[in-house]
This record gives sequence, structure tokens and C-alpha cells, in this order.
Amino acid sequence: MTMLFAGSSHPSLAKKLASKAKIPLGKVQLDQFPDGEFLVDIEEDVQGKEIFVFQSLAHRPHDYLMELLIMVDALKRASAKKITAIVPYLSYCRQDRKTAPGSPISAKLVANFFVTAGVDHLIVIDIHSEQVEGFFDIPVEPLHCQEMLSEAAKQYLSRDCIVVAPDVGGIKMAERVARYLGIKFVLMKKERSNAYDVKVALVGEVKGKDVFIIDDMCSTAGTLVAAASLCRSSGAKKIIAAVTHGLFTKEALKKIEESPIERLFITDTVSQKSFLPSKVEVLSVIPLLSCSINCSESENS
Ligand code: R5P
Repeated sequence: MTMLFAGSSHPSLAKKLASKAKIPLGKVQLDQFPDGEFLVDIEEDVQGKEIFVFQSLAHRPHDYLMELLIMVDALKRASAKKITAIVPYLSYCRQDRKTAPGSPISAKLVANFFVTAGVDHLIVIDIHSEQVEGFFDIPVEPLHCQEMLSEAAKQYLSRDCIVVAPDVGGIKMAERVARYLGIKFVLMKKERSNAYDVKVALVGEVKGKDVFIIDDMCSTAGTLVAAASLCRSSGAKKIIAAVTHGLFTKEALKKIEESPIERLFITDTVSQKSFLPSKVEVLSVIPLLSCSINCSESENS
């Protein structure tokens, strides 16, 4: 017997997922004490059951992380047989190495939290850096959206098209997309002076070509807009972009609206708080996730 419990970060996606994967959505009370501490009450019998817990860690990463961990603790203490966390967007993955003597490796700390709370298995979509998978001492199933994003972008791109990785960390992703589309990719070198401002330099040629800029996430849109502007000033024709996680903080959507990006594809891993510009198209990760849930169910039956 399987059941899915949803945290409060993205209830609409959790509901759609439960319906598509044909598993019941378990009843859970999610509340807060007057001082802000989270209070969770699992209102189902989960003893001996295979449980999926759904939470996307965008917008209020600490709150949603803590809520997820407390839910997992409650499920473990109620004798759930196996707990799989489904985390479409896993936060803190950008802090995956020491960049200065005083810097933390927050991604490792977060991975430890998952394991300590009692998560047995993790399903995650387009994790920022692949090395983070190794920080978890439990099986991690990384899902990728690049094929889906490329398929959608294809109709806007001519044959003379090139993939652009807006920073060195995006090489593997760009390689995957380029291989899928049967085209080449170029790279940008990115320097970040603060959380909002980035400088990019192009390593390669985009003149006269359509470009397909691919990244794992868009937060301030500094990266995407700098990359698109450089492509335009370097002679690119059509500029199409795709990111898996549309975090869109502060003025990000306005910057995208005013940028030379003609169309931006994102997925629904993150719930959207504002109205999206018409150039932004959202693709759903539900088929990807439900397929993964159903595979895991059949493995365990
Ligand atoms: C960085 O390594 C990531 O792949 C993204 O390029 C970055 O996090 C995007 O952030 P922003 O939209 O704030 O430039």
C-alpha cells in the first residue's frame, strides 16, 4: 500500500501528481505554533506502508525544508516501511564546495538532515550540481528535464542553431541538450560580482545563428539576461532559453520581459507567485515524476 503526503510548498502539483500516479493523497495537518515552530500531524495509518513525501524547496527554503523533515520524522515514528522524498526543486545545492576559508558546504549539511530525519530514498529534478548526489548516504534518483525542454524549444529554432551554456557549471547540461538536438554548444565564462550582477564572456561563435540558452534555474535572471544580451550583441538571431526551476526573485520577470529572449521555457517544479509574461511557457514535470513513482512502486511490490 502506497500513499503520498504533501508539504505546503506546492499543493497543486502534489495533487496533480497523486491523481496521475493513482496513489492516495494522505491527510496531514500542517500548522505552526504561535512562536513560529512547525506542527505536523499525520492523520493516516502509515504502518508498513511505502510513503512518498512531496515538497519543493523554493521561495521559503528553510520553512519548507523544516516542514518536510518534521513530516518525515512523524512518518518514521508511525512505522512507515519506506519513505521517499520527492523534492522537485532542492535548495542549497549551489553551496556545494568551500569557496573561501570561512564558507560552509550547505548542500552537505542539508543532505545530512534528510538522512538523519529518516528519508530512505530521494527523487529530485535537475539538481544544481551532480556532485551533491554523493552527499546523500541514501539512493538518489536524479530526473532531468532537458529532453522535454528541448522538444518544446525545437519548434522555435532553425536548423542553424547552437546551444549556449551560460556558465562553466552548465557544460554537462548543455552537452546533453546539444547531443539530443544533434547540434553544437558554446560556453560562457561567468563572473558574479554580487547576488544580482554577473558578467559573461563568450567562448565560441553565435553570429548569424539561433541560440538556445539552457540553465538549471533562474533566480534574479542576472545570468539569463546577461547571456541573452551578449548573444544578441554578438550577432545571434533568435534567442530561445530554457530553465528547469523558475524561482524568479525580485525584478526577474520584468528583466526577462525586457530582454532579447524571445521565448523562455520553464517547468512547474516551483509554484509561481506572480503572473508570468506571455513569452514564458510552463511545461509540467508530472509525467516524469509519476513515471518514477510507478517504477518505484513496482520494484517494491
Ligand atoms: C548558477 O550556477 C546557476 O546555474 C544559475 O545560472 C544561477 O543560479 C542563476 O541565478 P540568477 O538568475 O540569479 O543569475
